[in-house]
Amino acid sequence: MKIASVSAGKGVETDIVSIDRLKNPKTSYINSSELIGLCYPTHGFSLPWHMLRFILAMPTVKGKHVFLLNTRAGSMLFGLHLPGISGIAQWLPMLILWVKGYKIRGLLPLDMPSNWISIHPGFPTRVVNKITQRCMYLCERFTEKILSGKTFYRPMAFIFIPLDLFLIPVSLGYLLIGRFFMAKTFIADYKCTNCRICIQNCPVEAIKVKFGHPYWTIHCESCMRCINLCPERAVQTAHGYVALVVFGFMYIHFFNMFSTYFMQYIQTDLSIIDGLMEMTVFTVLAIPFMFISYYFVAWLQKFKFLSAVFRMTSFTFYWKHYMATGFKANDFIKSREKNQN
Ligand SMILES: Cc1cc2nc3c(=O)[nH]c(=O)nc-3n(C[C@H](O)[C@H](O)[C@H](O)COP(=O)(O)O)c2cc1C
Ligand code: SF4
Ligand code: SF4
Repeated sequence: MKIASVSAGKGVETDIVSIDRLKNPKTSYINSSELIGLCYPTHGFSLPWHMLRFILAMPTVKGKHVFLLNTRAGSMLFGLHLPGISGIAQWLPMLILWVKGYKIRGLLPLDMPSNWISIHPGFPTRVVNKITQRCMYLCERFTEKILSGKTFYRPMAFIFIPLDLFLIPVSLGYLLIGRFFMAKTFIADYKCTNCRICIQNCPVEAIKVKFGHPYWTIHCESCMRCINLCPERAVQTAHGYVALVVFGFMYIHFFNMFSTYFMQYIQTDLSIIDGLMEMTVFTVLAIPFMFISYYFVAWLQKFKFLSAVFRMTSFTFYWKHYMATGFKANDFIKSREKNQN
C-alpha cells in the first residue's frame, strides 16, 4: 500500500493484485507491467508455499524487471530495532526468477512487527506503531530509489547471508514438512459460535467444517489471520496438545531406539541400516500419528469440559493478539464481505 501511494505521488500508476486465491499468474498482466513487485511474508526462514507456487508459475520473459519485498519478524529491545531472518525467502525466488529471465531491480527485507502469535504474545500497540513507522520510511526510500530507474538492494539483505545459508536445511524442512505440522496445531474451542468469519476470511481457504466446528486442513499457511479475527477468541494454537504430541514423538523415538538396539543385539554390524531404519520408522510413524491425533483432538472439541481444558492450556488464550497499525478486525471483515458481493 505504501509503495502504491508513494508511486501515485510520483504519477506512476500501480495495481495491487492479491494472489491469495489466484491460482495462476496472469501472463497478460506480467507482460503489460513495467515493473513487478512481489511482496510476501517470511515463514519458517522460507516463503509461503502459495507465493512460491505463484513464482514457479510465472512465465519465462526477457529482462522484465521485478523487485522482491519479504516482510520479516521485526521486534524492539531497549529501544533498538531487531531484524528478523530471511533464510531462503529472498534467495530462492531470486534464483527462480533469474532462471526465468527476470532482472531483479530491488531487494527489500522489511522488518514488520512480528505477528507469529503462536509462539509469542502480540507486541504492545506502541511498539507495533514504532516498528511500522520505520517500515513506512524504508518503503518510501526504497520506492523512490527503484522508481528513479536504479537497482537497489537493501544492505540488510546481505548481512545475514552466512546465517541464511546455514539455515537452508531448516528452511527446506519447514517448506516440505514443518508447515503441515504447524497447520495441525489450530483448534476452535467450545466458545466458537460457528459464525464462519475464520472460514470466509482465510486467504487460502484452508478451514473446513468438521464435527460442527472449524477444522484446519494442511493447506493452512499459518498466517495467523483466523486467530486474530475470531470475535470470540475461540481459535487457539493448542500448546497443551502440541506438548502431548512432542512427548508422543519422543516416546516413539525411544521405542524405535530400543528396537534398533534389540536388532543390533541379535545381529552384527548393522550400523548404517540401523540408522536408516530408525529414521524411516520414525517418519512413517510420526506423520499418521500427527493426522490421527489432530482428527481426534478436533472431535474432542464437542465436549465442553475437554474443550475448556484445551483452551486453558493454550497460550493464545492468555496473551495479546496482533493487530497491525490502523487496523480493526471489523473493518477488515466488512471490506472482505463487500469485495465478495
Ligand atoms: C508461521 C510463521 C513463520 C514465520 N517465520 C519467520 C522467519 O523465519 N523469519 C522471520 O524473520 N519472520 C518470520 N515470521 C514473522 C513474519 O514474517 C512477520 O511477522 C510477517 O512478515 C509480518 O507481516 P504480516 O503481518 O503482513 O504477515 C513468521 C511468522 C509466522 C506466522
Ligand atoms: S471466527 Fe471464531 S467463532 Fe467464528 S467460526 Fe471461526 S472459530 Fe468459530
Ligand atoms: S492461519 Fe488461519 S487464516 Fe491463515 S492460512 Fe491458516 S487457516 Fe487460513
